[in-house]
Order: sequence, then C-alpha cells, then structure tokens
Amino acid sequence: MESSSILEFLENKAILVTGGTGFLAKIFVEKVLRTQPNVKKLYLLLRAADKKSASLRLQNEIIGKDLFKVLKQKTGANFESLISEKIAVVPGDITCKDLGIKDPKLGDELMRDTDVIVNLAATTKFIERYDVSLYVNTFGAKYILDFAKKCPNLKVVVQVSTAYVSGEKAGHIKEDPYYMGDTLNGRSGLDIEVEKKLIEAKLQELQDNGATEKTTKITMKDMGMERSRHWGWPNVYVFTKALGEMVLMQEKEDIPLVIVRPTIVTSTYKEPMPGWVEGVRTVDSIIVPYGKGKLTYFPCDLESIIDMIPGDMVVNAIITAMEAHANRAGDPIIYHIGSSLRHPVKFRVIHDTSYQYFTKHPWINKDGRPVIVSHVKVLDSVDSFKRYLTLRYLLPLKGLKIANTVFCQCFRDTYMDMSGKINHIMQLQEVYKPYLFFKTIYDDQNMEKLRAAANDRGAETGVFYFDPKAFDWEDYLINIHIPGLVKYVFD
Ligand SMILES: NC(=O)c1ccc[n+]([C@@H]2O[C@H](COP(=O)([O-])OP(=O)(O)OC[C@H]3O[C@@H](n4cnc5c(N)ncnc54)[C@H](OP(=O)(O)O)[C@@H]3O)[C@@H](O)[C@H]2O)c1
Repeated sequence: MESSSILEFLENKAILVTGGTGFLAKIFVEKVLRTQPNVKKLYLLLRAADKKSASLRLQNEIIGKDLFKVLKQKTGANFESLISEKIAVVPGDITCKDLGIKDPKLGDELMRDTDVIVNLAATTKFIERYDVSLYVNTFGAKYILDFAKKCPNLKVVVQVSTAYVSGEKAGHIKEDPYYMGDTLNGRSGLDIEVEKKLIEAKLQELQDNGATEKTTKITMKDMGMERSRHWGWPNVYVFTKALGEMVLMQEKEDIPLVIVRPTIVTSTYKEPMPGWVEGVRTVDSIIVPYGKGKLTYFPCDLESIIDMIPGDMVVNAIITAMEAHANRAGDPIIYHIGSSLRHPVKFRVIHDTSYQYFTKHPWINKDGRPVIVSHVKVLDSVDSFKRYLTLRYLLPLKGLKIANTVFCQCFRDTYMDMSGKINHIMQLQEVYKPYLFFKTIYDDQNMEKLRAAANDRGAETGVFYFDPKAFDWEDYLINIHIPGLVKYVFD
C-alpha cells in the first residue's frame, strides 16, 4: 500500500467550507489551520449581504470564539496575518444557483482555486418549514454539486449528512446509499422536483388567500411533517437530508464524492481543548435543563443506546475521508461516524453522570444560589412520555410557560391556540420518540476500514484520531462534556 500523509494532502489546497458559522465547520477550520498552516486557502461561504458583513461574522462568530484560543496562543502575533492570509469569506447562500455568490470575480477565483468542498451548511431543526428544509438540505446539496462540476481542480466533495436519515428503523443499519425514489415505507413516486412543485403550489395558495406570515409559517411546518411522514421519515430534517444524499447520488457523474453521516455530535474530546461545545442539541437538551433544576423527568429508556461522538473526532474523520477519496471517482462511500457499534453508551450513563456531576458541582444560578438537583422520574416508555407531555402542557395551559423545558426550541416564538397546541404536542411525540427510545445500531465498517487503511498507509492517525473506543464514556461525560456545557452553554 502506498504511503500517504494527510498533512501533505492539506498543504497548498484550497477548501471551500459551507456553514462556516456552524458548530462543526468551526472545529474543522480551526483544526486545518492549526495542523496545516500551509493550507492554500479556506474559503468560508457565509450568509451575509456583502463582504463587510461576512467579515464581521467571521470575527464575531468564528475566530472570536474560545475554540480559536489555542491557535491564537500557538501563533502569537502572527494570528491575524494567518487569518487574513488563509481565510477568505464568501458571502453566499447554498439555496441559490452558483451558491448565491454575487461578486463574479470572487466566484471565478473560487471556481479556479477550489480543490475540496466540504458541505456542512444545513438547517438542523426537526420541526422546520418544508420550503426552508428542502431548499437548504436538498437543493443546497444539489447546487454545491453543480458548483463542484465547474471547478477544474476539484479533488473531492464531502457531503455531511446525518446517520438519522435511516429514520426509525431498529437494528443494525449499514452504511448503504440512498438512491432517488427510495423511501422508508415502500411508497413509490418520491421525486424532489415534485416536492418542490407542491411547495410552490402551497405557497401560492397561501398568498392567494392572504395568509399571514404566522399562518404561512405554521402551514409550511405542518407540510414538512406531513410530507416526511408520507414517505416514512420521522421529521423534515432527516427527510430532506436523505433527499440531499439521493440528489448527489443521482447527479454526481464523475465527481469524487464522500457522504459522511455523523450521529449525535457532542463537545470536543481533546482538541483544540476538551469540552468545547456550542448550542443545545439533542442529548444536551436533557442535560442542560436538568442541571438548571428545570427538568423533573428523563424522557428516555435508560437501557437504550444513545449514539454520540465528539465533534473533534467527526472533523478528523471528515479530513481523513477527504484525503482517502481525493481524485477517486466511482461509487461514493458512505461513512457512519458514531459509537453505537464499537463503544456503545446507554442513556443510563447520561442519567447517572448528570446526577453525579450536578450533585457535586451544583450550577450557581443568576441569583448566586446553587441549584440542587435530585433524582428525577424516568419516563421509560413511549406511553408514559406521551402522558407526561399531555399532562404537563395541555392541562395547566398556563400560557406559554413551557419555555424552560427540554423542548424549548420547538416552542420558541410560536404562539399557539388550544388546537395548535394539541397538534404541536402530537408532533413532538412523533418527532422525539425515535431518538429517546432508540433501538438502532449504526454499523461503521466502512469507517473502521478507513481508520485501518489510514494506519497502514502511515497517515497521521495520531493527529486525526477518530476511534470512539479511545475514551471512557463516564469519564468523558463527567470530566469533559458536562463541564463544557456548563462553561459554554449555561447562562
Ligand atoms: N451537530 C450535530 O449533532 C450533527 C449530527 C449529525 C449531522 N450533522 C450535520 O453536520 C452539519 C453541520 O452541523 P452543525 O451542527 O455544525 O450545524 P449548525 O451549527 O446548525 O450550522 C449550520 C450552518 O449552516 C449554515 N446555513 C444554513 N442555511 C444556509 C444557507 N442557505 N446557505 C449557507 N449556509 C447556510 C448556517 O448559517 P447561518 O449562521 O447563517 O444560519 C450555519 O453556519 C449539518 O449538515 C448537519 O446536518 C450535525
């Protein structure tokens, strides 16, 4: 086997990264800059009106974050020049053809230069407007591919999808591709152009009827849920991500393509510092309100396996896959990036470590008082979970005093009347059920082969580590992840 170096591969490469302000993209950018400062350029496509506001986003939302402290220390006075030399912001939008890049000079430069594209842009909300989800997660992927086809030096496109495109299926899920028209319930006729037309017709109908913005938003969210379930997916996020994979498979031609499917991404395990995290996602939407004393129940089956993987490992796997597949067209390989097969962790460990951590280190609230947590009721069946939601939200009906719950983000800025509320609770039950009572193991044989092959080739697997067996879950949760949440997420 030929020897190879990931660091040598990165040298002098121009990488277009979408979703630059997002959680994973930031970890990616930091890692590349820190380990290979001789990268040619990192083009960050950011949603912004112009270059000035894109630069402001770069400062405030990317390099101004704690995540970049280690790089700052390492480069000292050269930090600013490294950033200005190696990072170029590209105002754009992946839902538009040619990625919405308005400056033709910049567009040409990007096309000419780009060696690698990493598509991390997405809308990750489970309950989202159908038009927004379809345009970002599906058509966005298509427009990225169209752009890639115009890049003469392109070596590889990495599409970051999600393991949960598998829907609610229990058992071992293999790293198999989806092809256009595949559905999870065997229904035939799935076609993205038809879905787009349905959206356009619905929006036209709403406009003709003089629908308010609020009505339009609710209707489009309902439509997203309805179309996802129609084809067998539990929510609009995973449905439109699956469609994104399908469109890439259908239209990739001879473009080298890798599709990576992370599971639940948690705080960094090791680099640039342990425990860096941003935002409240999936499992953290249980840990955070629990630590704040606002959760009186754990809605999950404690014996279920929750598939989590630290963010730095996801990024290392992406970089390793990128190098391994550069200039290799043919069938794209799908990679699950997770832990459920090789190093599973049960919900019980989340429950126990949260209790242990917050009992020992109570969170000090805004009034300077320690928040005392106690053992909580475990709702370990779908039925008890449903009953709880109904009792908690439907009977008291105290306006919207539900904001501090595990599902706060779903209720944000939504006023609902009684029927809307019932509807919403039904949606929540359906949307979260598969994740809290999960019976799925994500097979990651391709990932394991990638890891072994990188080792055999003598690639820098110590720098780009992604073995989920490398750490102990209890230790990670108590000493890294939960303290990281307290530091970066609690306010
Ligand atoms: N985090 C996880 O647990 C996880 C798990 C599995 C898979 N993934 C996948 O990993 C990828 C990155 O996830 P993440 O958690 O880092 O996401 P994130 O923090 O939510 O960031 C998403 C990014 O996408 C950008 N974006 C949204 N719409 C866009 C558009 N139309 N044009 C350009 N950019 C747009 C957002 O920009 P704005 O700042 O302008 O909104 C943001 O920078 C996603 O594809 C996601 O599906 C994530």
